[in-house]
Amino acid sequence: SMPRYTLLLLPLIAVTLSGFAAAQKPRAVNYDELKVPDYSLPDPLLTEAGVRISDATAWREARRPELLKLFQQFVYGTAPQPCPIRHEVVSTKTDAIDGKATRREVDVFFGTSDDAPSRRLLIYVPNAASKPVAAFLGLNFQGNHTIESDPAISITPKWVRKRKDVTDGNRATAKARGTSASRWSVESIIDRGYALVTIYYGDIDPDFDDGFKNGIHAALQANVDSVPPDQRWGSIASWAYGLSRALDFLETDEAIDSARVAVIGHSRLGKTSLWAGASDPRFAMDISNNSGCGGAALSRRAFGETIRVINKNFPHWFCDNYLQYNGDEASCPVDQHELVALIAPRPVYIASASGDRWADPKGEFLSAYHADPVYRLLGTDGLGGNQPPDLPPPADTPLSDGTIGYHLRTGKHDLTAYDWAQYMNFADRHLK
Ligand code: GCU
Repeated sequence: SMPRYTLLLLPLIAVTLSGFAAAQKPRAVNYDELKVPDYSLPDPLLTEAGVRISDATAWREARRPELLKLFQQFVYGTAPQPCPIRHEVVSTKTDAIDGKATRREVDVFFGTSDDAPSRRLLIYVPNAASKPVAAFLGLNFQGNHTIESDPAISITPKWVRKRKDVTDGNRATAKARGTSASRWSVESIIDRGYALVTIYYGDIDPDFDDGFKNGIHAALQANVDSVPPDQRWGSIASWAYGLSRALDFLETDEAIDSARVAVIGHSRLGKTSLWAGASDPRFAMDISNNSGCGGAALSRRAFGETIRVINKNFPHWFCDNYLQYNGDEASCPVDQHELVALIAPRPVYIASASGDRWADPKGEFLSAYHADPVYRLLGTDGLGGNQPPDLPPPADTPLSDGTIGYHLRTGKHDLTAYDWAQYMNFADRHLK
């Protein structure tokens, strides 16, 4: 039988253990519409001082700059000023994609000095084009060599996320060639007359939390010294910065019409494409594929992934001020519909997947819905029609006749040929 002192301690041990369990127990992810908290969204058309915005000039001059600043201060962080760039062509292949495209690899240097760090752009331009073409510009997750199987595409020497069988730890290998081809419809993009430009996102800034000792965070550190630490840029802002510098290069490139570049991204890179388009008005169109929390999804719904969870798992994505809203979305001065509104009046397309509840498809749609008044104030038709629907359309039924497009695709978290087909239809109407 148990010694007497153990018996005496038992209640104490029990209480301690249950307290420990409560503290450790992860909050359940909410997937129940009935448990979405009551929330009220900040009004994109009301300034912080309570002034109603009722015309395009007031939006452009007062509210838009104010909102942009709030997102810089409290969500993504403030990026350094654009640095000057230079570039070097690394390779050219005039008969890529069965002779349909010219493929180039171009290193864009951030800075003009000899030792400035570079990022490698992979560029496809249709050979059938007789004048500068519109382009899709997007970051990729695993390296440019994963976009299509051509063995001539260079393999990044930088850190990559580990992937079973196709990486060597955190190093890219030839085994991954073409493994992301299903996400990049290169041939159909070319067939439809568009250029495609992609960059490996880890080439800009590696996606792990190391206190920003690598990538352009480290390279441009001196340029953010004057920014208060809590609002210094996170990784999403640095990837967006890389997209803007790629656009700087495209402005000098004769094959591509830089006034007609759609920025596109999937998932964390969809959060990035939204922030790129919000912070850089030169992007003519913006596409967010399954971007979820910190992207298109309304944070205040706290459905699927929440601010607390994303900050815990990816502490380097946002600025440190964003930590304040862990479990307290309501006190955040902005919500994600205002990120979409920052893109107005430029066409924006938000897509969800039915099997991607983590990203909150309904919350992604509602961002579009609540950005609609800003789009209309600026003279566009927003989501289309006289009165936008306040519920997402049925699956596989794109709502894309307006300036804000949306679809819910059947299937899992992914970027597919179906998604691309909708984006190209949308681009045909807005960029051609
Ligand atoms: C995780 C993360 C998401 C992100 C996704 C991705 O699931 O929680 O916020 O969008 O990774 O980038 O694939």
